[in-house]
Amino acid sequence: MEAIMRNLFLTMAKSQTANRLAKRYGLRFGAQRFVAGESIQHAVETTKRLNEQGLKVTLDHLGESVYTRDEAAQAAADCIRTLDAISEAEQNMYLSIKLTQLGLDIDEGLCLDHVKKIVSRAAESGYFVRIDMEDYAHNEATFRLFHKLHADFPNQIGLAIQACLHKSKQDIAELGKKGVNVRLVKGAYKESPEVAFPDKADVDKQFIDLLEMHLTSGGFTAIATHDETVITHIKQFVTEQDIPKERYEFQMLYGIRTQLQLDLVKEGYPVRVYVPFGTDWYAYFMRRLAERPANVNFVLRSMFKK
Ligand code: FDA
Repeated sequence: MEAIMRNLFLTMAKSQTANRLAKRYGLRFGAQRFVAGESIQHAVETTKRLNEQGLKVTLDHLGESVYTRDEAAQAAADCIRTLDAISEAEQNMYLSIKLTQLGLDIDEGLCLDHVKKIVSRAAESGYFVRIDMEDYAHNEATFRLFHKLHADFPNQIGLAIQACLHKSKQDIAELGKKGVNVRLVKGAYKESPEVAFPDKADVDKQFIDLLEMHLTSGGFTAIATHDETVITHIKQFVTEQDIPKERYEFQMLYGIRTQLQLDLVKEGYPVRVYVPFGTDWYAYFMRRLAERPANVNFVLRSMFKK
């Protein structure tokens, strides 16, 4: 049943019609639990509150699967406005971006130009930009653009890698040699068994293997998970291997395992929260429901709340 629900939500995440309706009617159906609000102002306020609790932030100006040049240019301008707002407020954050929001499906060159502008602006204020990894169909193009950007901005740009993919072991071996800043995640998209492990147990195992590989390479590792078994294992691993706290951090999504985030901060671990905001919340919200179909209870409760 859980697998059916997961597939259903991941299929729903791709509906452009539902996305358009969601944008028009505003944050609904319990999405407020996972999305900080619709405006930059909401993002700034949330960042301030989290920073005060000892949590760092990465902001995601929500959006993906953009198919017009105007929308891609608008998304790039919004990312730059976000950087400006945050730099005025002097907050501890960086930016996470999705390449399909910035025109990857329209023209790779156009997308590269947009990302270059964003990263150049980030570099002026010493901020960092992370490229989220989207579905497998965009994996190769994402790597192509990442390598071009990394050549120009080695300290300003990083990538997310999904443990569910067979190819990720090879990718991590290569990124480790180059000392790339990697966020490791399990993977949130529906993929075919030809490219990804169908069984969660295999994903969980590869996740640990890749984390250990990257932690012992030259690159920075963002351990992006809410899985306490993994977190406990990695806490022990970094102690045994004597890996300094400057070389890694834990990352979790806004609205998920909030107490665990604060507990880790109390124990002295660096923790960063991924904070999405904006009107384009629908697909992101569907993926959060797919990860944990029990979240549907929030949807039902919010529908019947006055
Ligand atoms: P797992 O799914 O095993 O969950 C472990 C526990 O966490 C669950 O038992 C539950 O308690 C809690 N939990 C997990 N998801 C929950 C949810 N939605 N609601 C409530 N509780 C939940 N993916 C991707 O493909 N590309 C990317 O770029 C990113 N980026 C990214 C950044 C950050 C900071 C995080 C934390 C995650 C991502 N992801 C991602 C998503 C990632 O791939 C994965 O889908 C989720 O993190 C869920 O997997 P866990 O590692 O938490 O483990």
